[in-house]
Amino acid sequence: MPPVPARYRPAACHDGPGQPVKAGQRSKRKGPVKALKYWSGRFTKETEGIVDRFGASIPFDCRLAEYDIQGSIAYAHALEEAGVLSGEERARIEAGLSSILDDVKGGKIAFKLELEDIHTNIEKLLEERVGDIARKLHTGRSRNDQVALDMRLYVREQARKIVESARELQRALVKRAEEEIDVVMPAYTHLQRAQPVLFSHHLMAYFEMLERDVGRFRDCLRRMDEMPLGSGAACGTAYPISREALAKRLGFARITANSLDAVSDRDFVIEFLAACALLMMHLSRLCEEIVLWSSQEFGFIELDDAHATGSSMMPQKKNPDVAELIRGKSGRVYGDLVSLLVTMKGLPLAYNKDMQEDKEALFDAADTVLACLEVLTPVILALTVRKGRMESAVKEGFLVATDIADYLVRKGMAFRDAHRVAGRVVLHCIENGRSLCDLSVSEWKGFSDLFQDDILQAITVESSLNARSVPGGTSRAQVLSAIANAKKVLYIKEDGIL
Ligand code: ARG
Repeated sequence: MPPVPARYRPAACHDGPGQPVKAGQRSKRKGPVKALKYWSGRFTKETEGIVDRFGASIPFDCRLAEYDIQGSIAYAHALEEAGVLSGEERARIEAGLSSILDDVKGGKIAFKLELEDIHTNIEKLLEERVGDIARKLHTGRSRNDQVALDMRLYVREQARKIVESARELQRALVKRAEEEIDVVMPAYTHLQRAQPVLFSHHLMAYFEMLERDVGRFRDCLRRMDEMPLGSGAACGTAYPISREALAKRLGFARITANSLDAVSDRDFVIEFLAACALLMMHLSRLCEEIVLWSSQEFGFIELDDAHATGSSMMPQKKNPDVAELIRGKSGRVYGDLVSLLVTMKGLPLAYNKDMQEDKEALFDAADTVLACLEVLTPVILALTVRKGRMESAVKEGFLVATDIADYLVRKGMAFRDAHRVAGRVVLHCIENGRSLCDLSVSEWKGFSDLFQDDILQAITVESSLNARSVPGGTSRAQVLSAIANAKKVLYIKEDGIL
């Protein structure tokens, strides 16, 4: 099974010479921090260590390193075009940033806590590598527009990954729907047996939910496709940088239209989290069914041994931990969404430090969703369907009672009356311990003259299913056509999965 990503990537941080701290941990060092801050000019004292430690985002925003570097390289080009950097200076800065990126990827960098965040850490590293020209890179730029860009680049990549993983799960559902096309189970309402349904139809319901999820991530990607650099700290930049060229270089469709909005907007993160929350709700519902179905009471499915767990005390147990955990993790992702909504709700324009709180929620949600999708797909592919158990559940409980009413409607009775007659038939069977299929025709006629010999054919499971041949219904033909449509959406060839 794929490993679940850690809440924070365990990139090493540093809170002073020789004292590496793990990402996600706070420094234990007391006393003032010695490093020179880029903004220290107007200050007469160094910040207290406790303030540094409290305000630093590097333990978690180190995950943005790649995007920050991507943004800085693009920005260096914009500065060259604006005449702030010479071609040679830009090339040296670009080479320096690329080497930092290689080292970040190689896990060779220990970020420093006293440098507060990823933006300053990268810039200081650049200064160490290319010297004073690095000090020109921040011309006309603020960490406010920098972080707005980094966050968009991160969300863009995660949204694309989630769409891909959701597609994988959809492919698994469609594959199982096709394989199990002959399996009938009870459809439930109020968790009471309702009507016969194809198991494949049930699986395809989740395909539809995931299809809406994919649509939501795509909507989110379209709306957030705006490049914020050039917004400066709040009011735009005073240098003639081409924002349009920057947008193109960074792969955005448009530029943001208002600098104040651009640096204080986290709608795109909230939309992404909302899409994550909805997706998790769908996964949670599917997992709830897996938990129910794999119970001995239902016995509709059996999980592969590789996807279940045992009990430390009860040797007979086989527990659906994966499904339960996914169900549990949905709550955590809702928490991520709500935490950012609440963080943002009272903030005046434009950037406020509160917004630094967006990151952990975002990273946590993205990691959780991806991990859940990744682990659920093989579970679906490998589970065993217990056809016989499902079929016997269909046979008990008068699931074709609606079909008795529909039969009478076809013979001319109003549905309300037909429903009542069918109810009387069911009650008769319950009270006398009978089943519908062993009532004689004369017994049927006792309930209504409209019943004839063909009633028994009308109330088989097969005819119940195939009567529901309306588009979107559970007849075999409709389900096969839903599967065929899904394969088109997923680019699955008729002969297999691409
Ligand atoms: N670490 C900050 C954040 O995540 C970056 C922006 C800081 N801007 C500032 N003016 N302090 O929001």
